[in-house]
Amino acid sequence: MSLVVVRTVSEVREHLAPIRHDRRRISLVPTMGALHAGHASLIAEARADSHFVAVSVFVNPLQFGPGEDYLRYPRPLDSDLDVCRRVGADLVFAPDVKDVYVSDQRTFVEVTRLGDHLCGPFRPGHFRGVATVVAKLFNIVQPDRAYFGEKDYQQLCIIRRMVQDLNLGIEIVPVPIYRDVDGLALSSRNAYLNEAERTAAPVLFRALMLARKTIEEGERKSSVVREAAGSILAAQPLARVEYLQIVDPIEVQPVDEIAAEVRIAGAVWIGKTRLIDNVAAAPG
Ligand code: PAJ
Repeated sequence: MSLVVVRTVSEVREHLAPIRHDRRRISLVPTMGALHAGHASLIAEARADSHFVAVSVFVNPLQFGPGEDYLRYPRPLDSDLDVCRRVGADLVFAPDVKDVYVSDQRTFVEVTRLGDHLCGPFRPGHFRGVATVVAKLFNIVQPDRAYFGEKDYQQLCIIRRMVQDLNLGIEIVPVPIYRDVDGLALSSRNAYLNEAERTAAPVLFRALMLARKTIEEGERKSSVVREAAGSILAAQPLARVEYLQIVDPIEVQPVDEIAAEVRIAGAVWIGKTRLIDNVAAAPG
């Protein structure tokens, strides 16, 4: 079947009405475009699971802070459509900002507490912008399932909680992080890295893996684990650490004593590019 590309909300509704009428299951993969193999793995998983796969491509202004990269965020729509075609999506929804934000937005979705740590304090308003646009996309597409990458682990937790709290009845499917051969998590922002920065970038994954190993070998104190990982990051002159934190996997709150499975999450600046990553770890 060929890929349908629509730009407006009413076109989405028009195309999906007969699908829904036939009781076919609809899956949504929300993205901001600049699609890479990580996004493709989400679309492929949706394709394998469902009847009809919709991908949204929308760079959401509401989730970017002042001074962030909203304007320079890459928007290669034609190659994004190629990726969607190749992986077998059925429909791409690529709206203009004015179609999504019809008037000035007065209604926002805020999931309390889950945004208090990790990226939250460094990106004020970011998760409110994410939750609000995802709620809009859910209302526009009305999917049965939606796919989110563990790459943005805190975002995944927040969306899950939003669905639960607002009785949205959408199944949220988590997808593992897709990495390059050297461990770097794929990200649309990796395109900003120059050659030296790209070589330095896997340092974050290496630090997280050392943290995981330290936990698996029996260390229970988060402070000790964080110090070990921090020394790897400190040895890379191109990296500036924003945070490296060990949190519980549901509430995303820092833990001091590791007694159950945790998420180790970090954000580093490599030059002018901000990279995030995380891994799961369980006490050995
Ligand atoms: P974006 O950064 O384009 O990511 C879209 C989806 O792809 C997210 O669920 C993200 O976690 C997932 N993803 C990105 N890189 C990945 C990788 N290397 N492995 C696995 N999954 C990966 O996240 C957003 O857009 C936006 O915040 C959005 C949810 C679309 C709301 O605007």
